[in-house]
Amino acid sequence: MSIQRVLTGITPTGTPHLGNYVGAVRPAIAASREPGVESFYFLADYHALIKCDDPARIQRSTLEIAATWVASGLDPERVTFYRQSDIPEIPELNWMLGCVTGKGLLNRAHAYKAQVDKNAAAGAEPDADVSAGLFMYPVLMAADILMFKAHKVPVGRDQVQHIEMARDIASSFNHLYGEHLVLPEAVIEASVATLPGLDGRKMSKSYDNTIPLFLPRDELKRRIGGILTDSRAPGEPKETEGSALFQIFQAFAAEDETAALRQAYAEGISWGDAKQKLFERIDREVAPMRDAYEALIAHPARLEDLLQAGAAKARRTATPLIGELRHAVGLRRLAAASVPQTQQQKPARAALPTFKQYREADGQFHFKLQDGRGQLLIQSRGYAAPREAAQAMAALQVPGADLTALLADAVDDAVPADPAAVADALQLLLAAREG
Ligand code: TRP
Repeated sequence: MSIQRVLTGITPTGTPHLGNYVGAVRPAIAASREPGVESFYFLADYHALIKCDDPARIQRSTLEIAATWVASGLDPERVTFYRQSDIPEIPELNWMLGCVTGKGLLNRAHAYKAQVDKNAAAGAEPDADVSAGLFMYPVLMAADILMFKAHKVPVGRDQVQHIEMARDIASSFNHLYGEHLVLPEAVIEASVATLPGLDGRKMSKSYDNTIPLFLPRDELKRRIGGILTDSRAPGEPKETEGSALFQIFQAFAAEDETAALRQAYAEGISWGDAKQKLFERIDREVAPMRDAYEALIAHPARLEDLLQAGAAKARRTATPLIGELRHAVGLRRLAAASVPQTQQQKPARAALPTFKQYREADGQFHFKLQDGRGQLLIQSRGYAAPREAAQAMAALQVPGADLTALLADAVDDAVPADPAAVADALQLLLAAREG
Protein backbone atom coordinates (compact mmCIF):
# COMPACT_ATOMS: atom_id res chain seq x y z
CA MET A 1 0.00 0.00 0.00
CA SER A 2 1.34 3.43 -0.84
CA ILE A 3 1.55 6.04 1.88
CA GLN A 4 -1.34 8.48 1.95
CA ARG A 5 -0.41 11.98 2.92
CA VAL A 6 -3.13 13.72 4.94
CA LEU A 7 -2.94 17.43 5.71
CA THR A 8 -5.14 19.91 7.49
CA GLY A 9 -4.88 23.43 8.89
CA ILE A 10 -6.44 25.07 11.93
CA THR A 11 -6.87 28.84 11.94
CA PRO A 12 -5.80 30.26 15.30
CA THR A 13 -8.38 32.92 16.08
CA GLY A 14 -10.18 31.48 19.09
CA THR A 15 -10.21 29.15 22.08
CA PRO A 16 -10.81 25.45 21.30
CA HIS A 17 -14.25 24.23 22.36
CA LEU A 18 -15.98 20.87 22.67
CA GLY A 19 -17.24 21.14 19.08
CA ASN A 20 -13.67 21.55 17.75
CA TYR A 21 -12.54 18.62 19.85
CA VAL A 22 -15.27 16.22 18.74
CA GLY A 23 -15.42 17.44 15.13
CA ALA A 24 -11.75 17.95 14.32
CA VAL A 25 -9.10 17.27 16.98
CA ARG A 26 -10.20 13.84 18.16
CA PRO A 27 -10.85 12.32 14.70
CA ALA A 28 -7.63 13.80 13.28
CA ILE A 29 -5.53 12.36 16.08
CA ALA A 30 -7.19 8.96 15.68
CA ALA A 31 -6.55 9.08 11.92
CA SER A 32 -2.89 10.02 12.46
CA ARG A 33 -2.36 6.74 14.29
CA GLU A 34 -3.50 4.57 11.40
CA PRO A 35 -0.86 2.67 9.46
CA GLY A 36 0.05 3.88 6.00
CA VAL A 37 -0.83 7.50 6.80
CA GLU A 38 1.58 10.39 6.97
CA SER A 39 -0.11 13.37 8.65
CA PHE A 40 0.64 17.07 8.41
CA TYR A 41 -1.21 19.34 10.85
CA PHE A 42 -0.50 23.02 11.06
CA LEU A 43 -1.58 26.28 12.62
CA ALA A 44 -2.77 28.49 9.75
CA ASP A 45 -1.67 31.77 11.28
CA TYR A 46 -1.31 33.60 7.95
CA HIS A 47 -4.98 32.77 7.41
CA ALA A 48 -5.76 34.13 10.86
CA LEU A 49 -4.53 37.57 9.76
CA ILE A 50 -7.36 37.68 7.23
CA LYS A 51 -10.03 37.51 9.92
CA CYS A 52 -8.34 38.97 12.97
CA ASP A 53 -6.35 42.16 13.54
CA ASP A 54 -5.73 41.57 17.23
CA PRO A 55 -2.08 40.44 17.59
CA ALA A 56 -2.44 39.31 21.21
CA ARG A 57 -5.39 37.15 20.30
CA ILE A 58 -3.54 35.44 17.46
CA GLN A 59 -0.61 34.64 19.70
CA ARG A 60 -2.83 33.43 22.53
CA SER A 61 -4.94 31.30 20.22
CA THR A 62 -1.84 29.78 18.63
CA LEU A 63 -0.64 28.80 22.09
CA GLU A 64 -4.03 27.39 23.12
CA ILE A 65 -4.54 25.40 19.94
CA ALA A 66 -1.02 23.99 19.92
CA ALA A 67 -1.44 22.99 23.58
CA THR A 68 -4.85 21.46 22.84
CA TRP A 69 -3.58 19.22 20.06
CA VAL A 70 -0.61 18.01 22.05
CA ALA A 71 -2.61 17.52 25.26
CA SER A 72 -5.25 15.61 23.28
CA GLY A 73 -2.67 13.04 22.26
CA LEU A 74 -1.10 14.26 19.03
CA ASP A 75 2.34 12.67 18.75
CA PRO A 76 4.70 15.25 17.22
CA GLU A 77 7.23 12.49 16.52
CA ARG A 78 4.77 10.62 14.40
CA VAL A 79 3.12 13.51 12.57
CA THR A 80 4.48 16.78 11.20
CA PHE A 81 3.03 19.53 13.39
CA TYR A 82 4.04 23.09 12.52
CA ARG A 83 3.07 26.72 12.24
CA GLN A 84 2.39 28.02 8.73
CA SER A 85 4.38 31.24 9.25
CA ASP A 86 7.53 29.23 10.07
CA ILE A 87 7.59 27.90 6.50
CA PRO A 88 8.77 30.68 4.14
CA GLU A 89 8.28 28.35 1.18
CA ILE A 90 4.50 28.66 1.63
CA PRO A 91 4.20 32.38 0.84
CA GLU A 92 6.64 31.86 -2.00
CA LEU A 93 4.45 29.14 -3.46
CA ASN A 94 1.42 31.32 -2.79
CA TRP A 95 2.88 33.85 -5.22
CA MET A 96 3.71 31.29 -7.90
CA LEU A 97 0.20 29.86 -7.67
CA GLY A 98 -1.38 33.31 -7.71
CA CYS A 99 0.25 33.79 -11.10
CA VAL A 100 -1.52 30.74 -12.57
CA THR A 101 -4.90 31.39 -10.91
CA GLY A 102 -7.61 33.17 -12.85
CA LYS A 103 -9.16 36.10 -11.05
CA GLY A 104 -12.47 34.71 -12.27
CA LEU A 105 -11.93 31.53 -10.28
CA LEU A 106 -11.48 33.56 -7.10
CA ASN A 107 -14.55 35.67 -7.92
CA ARG A 108 -16.55 32.47 -7.48
CA ALA A 109 -15.26 31.63 -3.97
CA HIS A 110 -18.15 31.33 -1.51
CA ALA A 111 -16.52 33.38 1.24
CA TYR A 112 -15.81 36.26 -1.13
CA LYS A 113 -19.22 36.05 -2.81
CA ALA A 114 -20.96 36.06 0.55
CA GLN A 115 -19.31 39.38 1.41
CA VAL A 116 -20.20 40.83 -1.99
CA ASP A 117 -23.84 39.74 -1.55
CA LYS A 118 -23.91 41.22 1.92
CA ASN A 119 -22.59 44.50 0.55
CA ALA A 120 -25.22 44.50 -2.20
CA ALA A 121 -27.98 43.94 0.36
CA ALA A 122 -26.63 46.83 2.43
CA GLY A 123 -26.35 49.08 -0.61
CA ALA A 124 -22.56 49.31 -0.18
CA GLU A 125 -19.76 49.08 -2.75
CA PRO A 126 -19.44 45.44 -3.95
CA ASP A 127 -15.92 45.08 -2.53
CA ALA A 128 -16.46 46.96 0.71
CA ASP A 129 -14.62 45.19 3.55
CA VAL A 130 -12.93 42.80 1.13
CA SER A 131 -9.16 42.77 1.59
CA ALA A 132 -6.86 41.38 -1.07
CA GLY A 133 -5.99 38.77 1.58
CA LEU A 134 -9.59 37.59 1.78
CA PHE A 135 -9.77 37.44 -1.98
CA MET A 136 -6.53 35.41 -2.15
CA TYR A 137 -7.54 33.10 0.70
CA PRO A 138 -8.10 30.09 -1.60
CA VAL A 139 -4.67 30.53 -3.21
CA LEU A 140 -2.88 30.57 0.14
CA MET A 141 -4.83 27.48 1.13
CA ALA A 142 -3.81 25.80 -2.13
CA ALA A 143 -0.18 26.65 -1.32
CA ASP A 144 -0.57 25.02 2.13
CA ILE A 145 -1.82 21.83 0.55
CA LEU A 146 0.29 21.60 -2.62
CA MET A 147 3.51 22.44 -0.75
CA PHE A 148 3.37 19.00 0.88
CA LYS A 149 1.85 17.02 -1.99
CA ALA A 150 -1.10 16.06 0.23
CA HIS A 151 -3.47 13.44 -1.16
CA LYS A 152 -6.29 13.91 1.34
CA VAL A 153 -7.50 17.01 3.13
CA PRO A 154 -10.05 16.45 5.91
CA VAL A 155 -12.22 19.56 6.18
CA GLY A 156 -15.69 20.76 7.04
CA ARG A 157 -18.26 21.14 4.27
CA ASP A 158 -17.69 24.87 4.06
CA GLN A 159 -14.11 24.22 2.91
CA VAL A 160 -14.79 21.72 0.12
CA GLN A 161 -14.85 24.39 -2.54
CA HIS A 162 -11.38 25.51 -1.46
CA ILE A 163 -10.00 22.01 -2.02
CA GLU A 164 -11.58 21.94 -5.47
CA MET A 165 -9.89 25.25 -6.21
CA ALA A 166 -6.57 23.82 -5.02
CA ARG A 167 -7.04 21.02 -7.57
CA ASP A 168 -7.81 23.53 -10.33
CA ILE A 169 -4.80 25.62 -9.42
CA ALA A 170 -2.51 22.56 -9.30
CA SER A 171 -3.79 21.47 -12.72
CA SER A 172 -3.09 24.88 -14.21
CA PHE A 173 0.42 24.84 -12.81
CA ASN A 174 1.12 21.30 -14.03
CA HIS A 175 -0.29 22.10 -17.43
CA LEU A 176 2.09 25.03 -17.83
CA TYR A 177 5.21 23.68 -16.15
CA GLY A 178 4.99 19.87 -15.99
CA GLU A 179 3.67 17.37 -13.47
CA HIS A 180 5.11 18.80 -10.28
CA LEU A 181 2.05 19.07 -8.03
CA VAL A 182 -0.30 16.44 -6.62
CA LEU A 183 -4.05 17.04 -6.98
CA PRO A 184 -5.60 16.80 -3.50
CA GLU A 185 -9.00 15.42 -2.53
CA ALA A 186 -11.31 16.67 0.22
CA VAL A 187 -12.40 14.18 2.87
CA ILE A 188 -15.55 14.92 4.79
CA GLU A 189 -15.89 12.72 7.82
CA ALA A 190 -19.45 11.46 7.52
CA SER A 191 -19.42 9.87 10.97
CA VAL A 192 -18.44 13.07 12.77
CA ALA A 193 -21.52 14.97 13.84
CA THR A 194 -21.39 18.69 14.38
CA LEU A 195 -22.00 19.37 18.03
CA PRO A 196 -24.85 21.63 19.13
CA GLY A 197 -23.96 24.51 21.40
CA LEU A 198 -25.63 25.92 24.52
CA ASP A 199 -28.58 27.28 22.52
CA GLY A 200 -29.03 24.18 20.31
CA ARG A 201 -27.55 25.78 17.18
CA LYS A 202 -24.21 24.46 15.88
CA MET A 203 -21.52 25.07 18.51
CA SER A 204 -19.55 27.95 17.08
CA LYS A 205 -17.58 30.94 18.21
CA SER A 206 -19.70 33.11 15.92
CA TYR A 207 -22.89 32.20 17.84
CA ASP A 208 -21.18 32.69 21.20
CA ASN A 209 -22.70 29.38 22.36
CA THR A 210 -19.57 27.32 22.98
CA ILE A 211 -18.27 25.26 25.85
CA PRO A 212 -14.47 25.71 25.89
CA LEU A 213 -12.68 22.37 26.06
CA PHE A 214 -10.31 23.14 28.91
CA LEU A 215 -12.29 25.08 31.47
CA PRO A 216 -11.49 24.51 35.13
CA ARG A 217 -13.81 21.79 36.51
CA ASP A 218 -16.28 24.04 38.30
CA GLU A 219 -16.44 26.41 35.33
CA LEU A 220 -17.18 23.46 33.04
CA LYS A 221 -19.99 22.43 35.34
CA ARG A 222 -21.44 25.93 35.39
CA ARG A 223 -21.28 26.17 31.62
CA ILE A 224 -23.00 22.82 31.14
CA GLY A 225 -25.70 24.08 33.50
CA GLY A 226 -26.40 26.74 30.87
CA ILE A 227 -27.41 24.30 28.10
CA LEU A 228 -30.90 25.13 26.87
CA THR A 229 -33.56 22.52 27.75
CA ASP A 230 -37.35 22.49 27.56
CA SER A 231 -39.58 23.09 30.54
CA ARG A 232 -40.51 19.49 31.36
CA ALA A 233 -40.57 18.87 35.10
CA PRO A 234 -38.71 16.06 36.92
CA GLY A 235 -40.66 12.83 36.46
CA GLU A 236 -41.98 13.80 33.05
CA PRO A 237 -40.52 11.77 30.14
CA LYS A 238 -38.07 13.78 28.01
CA GLU A 239 -37.38 13.76 24.26
CA THR A 240 -33.87 12.80 23.16
CA GLU A 241 -34.67 14.06 19.68
CA GLY A 242 -33.52 17.68 19.42
CA SER A 243 -31.99 17.65 22.89
CA ALA A 244 -28.59 19.40 22.70
CA LEU A 245 -27.68 17.89 26.05
CA PHE A 246 -28.32 14.38 24.74
CA GLN A 247 -26.37 14.96 21.54
CA ILE A 248 -23.35 16.28 23.38
CA PHE A 249 -23.49 13.30 25.73
CA GLN A 250 -23.64 10.94 22.78
CA ALA A 251 -20.49 12.46 21.27
CA PHE A 252 -18.52 11.46 24.37
CA ALA A 253 -20.20 8.28 25.56
CA ALA A 254 -20.01 4.63 24.54
CA GLU A 255 -23.15 3.03 23.11
CA ASP A 256 -24.26 1.42 26.36
CA GLU A 257 -23.89 4.71 28.24
CA THR A 258 -25.97 6.48 25.61
CA ALA A 259 -28.62 3.75 25.83
CA ALA A 260 -28.74 4.22 29.61
CA LEU A 261 -29.28 7.97 29.27
CA ARG A 262 -31.99 7.39 26.65
CA GLN A 263 -33.71 5.13 29.18
CA ALA A 264 -33.35 7.77 31.91
CA TYR A 265 -34.92 10.36 29.57
CA ALA A 266 -37.90 8.05 29.04
CA GLU A 267 -38.19 7.55 32.79
CA GLY A 268 -38.30 11.28 33.46
CA ILE A 269 -34.79 12.13 34.73
CA SER A 270 -34.68 15.77 35.89
CA TRP A 271 -32.74 18.21 33.69
CA GLY A 272 -30.49 18.93 36.66
CA ASP A 273 -29.56 15.27 37.01
CA ALA A 274 -29.07 14.90 33.26
CA LYS A 275 -26.69 17.86 33.27
CA GLN A 276 -24.77 16.31 36.15
CA LYS A 277 -24.39 13.09 34.13
CA LEU A 278 -23.18 15.03 31.12
CA PHE A 279 -20.69 16.96 33.23
CA GLU A 280 -19.30 13.77 34.75
CA ARG A 281 -18.99 12.06 31.39
CA ILE A 282 -17.15 14.95 29.76
CA ASP A 283 -14.95 15.54 32.76
CA ARG A 284 -13.93 11.86 32.76
CA GLU A 285 -12.52 12.23 29.23
CA VAL A 286 -11.16 15.74 29.61
CA ALA A 287 -9.61 15.71 33.10
CA PRO A 288 -6.34 13.91 32.24
CA MET A 289 -5.88 16.03 29.13
CA ARG A 290 -6.64 19.17 31.14
CA ASP A 291 -3.65 18.54 33.38
CA ALA A 292 -1.40 18.14 30.34
CA TYR A 293 -2.92 21.27 28.77
CA GLU A 294 -2.33 23.40 31.84
CA ALA A 295 1.28 22.21 32.08
CA LEU A 296 1.86 23.15 28.42
CA ILE A 297 0.22 26.56 28.74
CA ALA A 298 2.43 27.24 31.74
CA HIS A 299 5.56 26.47 29.64
CA PRO A 300 5.11 28.12 26.24
CA ALA A 301 8.83 27.70 25.47
CA ARG A 302 8.35 23.93 25.37
CA LEU A 303 5.60 24.26 22.79
CA GLU A 304 7.72 26.71 20.85
CA ASP A 305 10.56 24.16 20.67
CA LEU A 306 8.12 21.57 19.50
CA LEU A 307 6.81 23.85 16.75
CA GLN A 308 10.35 24.73 15.68
CA ALA A 309 11.23 21.06 15.40
CA GLY A 310 8.02 20.56 13.42
CA ALA A 311 8.93 23.41 11.07
CA ALA A 312 12.39 21.94 10.44
CA LYS A 313 10.76 18.61 9.62
CA ALA A 314 8.19 20.24 7.32
CA ARG A 315 10.87 22.21 5.51
CA ARG A 316 12.74 19.01 4.68
CA THR A 317 9.83 18.47 2.26
CA ALA A 318 9.11 22.09 1.36
CA THR A 319 12.63 23.33 0.57
CA PRO A 320 13.46 20.81 -2.17
CA LEU A 321 10.01 21.15 -3.73
CA ILE A 322 10.23 24.93 -3.89
CA GLY A 323 13.68 24.52 -5.48
CA GLU A 324 12.17 22.24 -8.08
CA LEU A 325 9.30 24.67 -8.72
CA ARG A 326 11.57 27.70 -8.93
CA HIS A 327 13.50 25.88 -11.59
CA ALA A 328 10.34 24.82 -13.37
CA VAL A 329 8.98 28.35 -13.67
CA GLY A 330 12.36 29.83 -14.66
CA LEU A 331 13.55 31.37 -11.40
CA ARG A 332 16.97 29.89 -12.03
CA ARG A 333 20.55 30.57 -11.21
CA LEU A 334 22.64 32.12 -13.91
CA ALA A 335 25.13 29.26 -13.97
CA ALA A 336 27.02 28.82 -17.24
CA ALA A 337 24.90 25.80 -18.10
CA SER A 338 21.66 27.72 -17.80
CA VAL A 339 22.57 30.55 -20.12
CA PRO A 340 19.70 30.82 -22.62
CA GLN A 341 19.98 28.31 -25.43
CA THR A 342 18.29 28.72 -28.75
CA GLN A 343 15.38 26.35 -28.77
CA GLN A 344 16.87 23.41 -30.68
CA GLN A 345 20.37 23.73 -29.32
CA LYS A 346 21.37 21.16 -26.74
CA PRO A 347 23.45 22.35 -23.83
CA ALA A 348 27.13 21.97 -24.63
CA ARG A 349 28.51 18.66 -23.40
CA ALA A 350 31.06 20.28 -21.16
CA ALA A 351 28.39 22.34 -19.45
CA LEU A 352 26.46 19.34 -18.14
CA PRO A 353 26.61 18.28 -14.53
CA THR A 354 28.27 14.92 -13.92
CA PHE A 355 27.99 12.06 -11.48
CA LYS A 356 31.20 10.28 -10.50
CA GLN A 357 31.63 7.13 -8.47
CA TYR A 358 34.86 6.28 -6.71
CA ARG A 359 36.40 4.32 -3.88
CA GLU A 360 37.92 5.87 -0.79
CA ALA A 361 40.92 4.70 1.18
CA ASP A 362 38.57 3.21 3.77
CA GLY A 363 37.29 0.78 1.14
CA GLN A 364 33.84 2.36 0.95
CA PHE A 365 32.17 3.46 -2.28
CA HIS A 366 31.09 7.07 -2.75
CA PHE A 367 29.70 9.26 -5.46
CA LYS A 368 29.61 12.94 -6.14
CA LEU A 369 27.61 15.25 -8.35
CA GLN A 370 29.34 18.28 -9.86
CA ASP A 371 27.85 21.03 -11.95
CA GLY A 372 29.15 21.94 -15.41
CA ARG A 373 31.90 24.03 -13.92
CA GLY A 374 33.10 21.33 -11.58
CA GLN A 375 31.44 22.83 -8.52
CA LEU A 376 30.62 20.11 -5.96
CA LEU A 377 26.85 19.71 -5.48
CA ILE A 378 26.57 16.37 -3.70
CA GLN A 379 29.18 14.53 -1.72
CA SER A 380 27.71 11.16 -0.83
CA ARG A 381 28.20 9.07 2.26
CA GLY A 382 30.06 5.78 1.98
CA TYR A 383 28.38 2.63 0.67
CA ALA A 384 29.64 -0.88 1.32
CA ALA A 385 29.12 -2.03 -2.27
CA PRO A 386 29.54 -0.23 -5.61
CA ARG A 387 26.03 -1.32 -6.58
CA GLU A 388 24.53 0.53 -3.66
CA ALA A 389 26.25 3.76 -4.64
CA ALA A 390 25.12 3.26 -8.24
CA GLN A 391 21.53 2.70 -7.15
CA ALA A 392 21.57 5.85 -5.05
CA MET A 393 22.80 7.84 -8.08
CA ALA A 394 20.15 6.29 -10.31
CA ALA A 395 17.37 7.00 -7.80
CA LEU A 396 18.25 10.70 -7.83
CA GLN A 397 17.83 10.82 -11.60
CA VAL A 398 14.31 9.37 -11.72
CA PRO A 399 11.99 12.20 -12.83
CA GLY A 400 9.77 13.37 -9.99
CA ALA A 401 11.89 11.56 -7.36
CA ASP A 402 11.44 12.64 -3.75
CA LEU A 403 14.66 14.64 -3.54
CA THR A 404 14.32 15.42 0.16
CA ALA A 405 14.17 11.82 1.19
CA LEU A 406 16.91 10.76 -1.21
CA LEU A 407 19.27 13.54 -0.20
CA ALA A 408 18.62 12.93 3.49
CA ASP A 409 19.80 9.37 2.96
CA ALA A 410 22.61 9.85 0.48
CA VAL A 411 24.44 13.01 1.48
CA ASP A 412 27.52 13.00 3.66
CA ASP A 413 26.38 14.95 6.74
CA ALA A 414 29.64 16.86 6.84
CA VAL A 415 29.07 18.30 3.34
CA PRO A 416 25.41 19.43 3.15
CA ALA A 417 23.87 19.73 -0.31
CA ASP A 418 21.86 22.70 -1.54
CA PRO A 419 18.63 21.05 -2.72
CA ALA A 420 17.78 23.91 -5.09
CA ALA A 421 21.14 23.64 -6.84
CA VAL A 422 20.81 19.84 -7.02
CA ALA A 423 17.31 20.14 -8.48
CA ASP A 424 18.66 22.55 -11.10
CA ALA A 425 21.45 20.17 -12.06
CA LEU A 426 19.20 17.11 -12.27
CA GLN A 427 16.75 19.03 -14.40
CA LEU A 428 19.56 19.93 -16.80
CA LEU A 429 20.73 16.32 -17.05
CA LEU A 430 17.21 15.17 -17.74
CA ALA A 431 16.63 17.84 -20.39
CA ALA A 432 19.89 16.92 -22.10
CA ARG A 433 18.92 13.26 -22.17
CA GLU A 434 15.50 13.94 -23.57
CA GLY A 435 17.28 16.01 -26.21
N1 TRP B 1 -9.36 27.50 5.82
C1 TRP B 1 -9.36 26.45 6.82
C2 TRP B 1 -10.49 26.72 7.82
O1 TRP B 1 -10.87 27.85 8.02
C3 TRP B 1 -8.03 26.37 7.53
C4 TRP B 1 -6.97 26.03 6.57
C5 TRP B 1 -5.97 26.85 6.10
C6 TRP B 1 -6.79 24.78 5.94
N2 TRP B 1 -5.19 26.17 5.24
C7 TRP B 1 -5.66 24.90 5.10
C8 TRP B 1 -7.50 23.55 5.99
C9 TRP B 1 -5.22 23.83 4.32
C10 TRP B 1 -7.05 22.51 5.21
C11 TRP B 1 -5.92 22.64 4.38
O2 TRP B 1 -10.95 25.77 8.42
